[in-house]
Amino acid sequence: MDFNLSEEQLAVRDAAKDFAQTELLPGVIDRDEEQKFPLEQVRKMGELGFLGMMVDPKYGGGGMDTISYVLAMEEISKIDASASVCMSVNNSLVCWGIEKFGTEVQKEKYLTPLAKGEIWGAFCLSEPEAGSDATSQRTTAEDKDDYYLLNGNKNWITNGNTASVYLVFAQTDKEKKHKGINCLILEKNMEGFIIGKKENKLGIRGSDTHSLGFTDVKIPKENRLGEEGEGFKIAMKTLNGGRIGIASQALGIASGALELAIQYSKERKAFGKPIHQHQGIAFKLSEMATNIEAARMLCLQAAFLKDQGKDYSKASAMAKLFASKVAMESTVEAVQIHGGYGFVKEYHVERLMRDAKITQIYEGTSEIQKIVISRELMNE
Ligand code: CAA
Repeated sequence: MDFNLSEEQLAVRDAAKDFAQTELLPGVIDRDEEQKFPLEQVRKMGELGFLGMMVDPKYGGGGMDTISYVLAMEEISKIDASASVCMSVNNSLVCWGIEKFGTEVQKEKYLTPLAKGEIWGAFCLSEPEAGSDATSQRTTAEDKDDYYLLNGNKNWITNGNTASVYLVFAQTDKEKKHKGINCLILEKNMEGFIIGKKENKLGIRGSDTHSLGFTDVKIPKENRLGEEGEGFKIAMKTLNGGRIGIASQALGIASGALELAIQYSKERKAFGKPIHQHQGIAFKLSEMATNIEAARMLCLQAAFLKDQGKDYSKASAMAKLFASKVAMESTVEAVQIHGGYGFVKEYHVERLMRDAKITQIYEGTSEIQKIVISRELMNE
């Protein structure tokens, strides 16, 4: 692995940092408080190419590598994890899935506007009774010869209301278990599709998380992604890459908290000196920085393997497992370093602490990452 970043990669990182500081930072506290989706900001992210970074330019994407994506995700997540989850889902789950498994017609119709950031998408796997146990899909896609009849419910869907295109996983042949699941491309205006309740969340409160309902939605056969019964495999393969996005989000939340803690500990004085000169604080900062650097290496390693065309399922699960733990621990420490100021909204670290928790839950809980890692270890 080359530890030097290229000129292009550094330019992407700088552009993301600049965008986060100028466009996302103003208003981030209010959006969190009001649970307001950063609509204007996400549109700008689309215009700047952050929603389709790795897609082939012939479909309107940026043609960048995964390392650039990790760098951009970190910078944007330092400031606004509600915006970065929208970015992660569109890049890693929706665009990647369609580019990898879609037909030429699907790519032209859906991938191109998604990669250009004119619209964004949602990945609909989780259900009220099928979260970690993703094979137990209750949503059904009955085969009606020239269309699928979709019925059921999905839960906790990121971009649930603002997306235009939805990748929906549903059971077509129950007997075949996970081999009977299909992935269907649903358009927002299809009859029978209902956007349900918006979740009132602990963290990433600006992100747009909804339950969704399907009642006799007719999805044309040409909207099936991949082969008949390939849906579960598509979900698993897509999530392998999605975990690089969420690991990078966790990394950004952690490194954002560290930056704020360093700045505060230089400015705040106690017992006659800046608090970083007290060992209790210095030790915390050193430990946070070391863990964050290790998390960054895991994220970059997973990205590097993906860019090399090598297997990255274990590496991405490891990156997500570790970076999300580091995000949780670092944000708790950042609040502690800030003392009473850490507990109020103006100092940002309490939001980062609340945002960190979801990185240990979505796109597979930490326990799921351990299952993925242990299975890979046994296969080596
Ligand atoms: N990569 C590629 N293929 C995989 C895979 C992986 N990581 N994990 C499993 N598979 C394949 C297996 O090889 C197997 O293939 P065969 O049929 O050829 O044998 C098939 O999938 C079934 O695998 P398992 O028997 O191992 O399936 P399982 O029922 O034991 O479940 C699991 C495995 C890893 C626990 C899986 O269910 C899982 O990952 N669950 C978590 C789901 C998840 O992450 N949900 C998040 C929702 S999306 C989200 O959060 C997005 C958002 O909005 C932010």
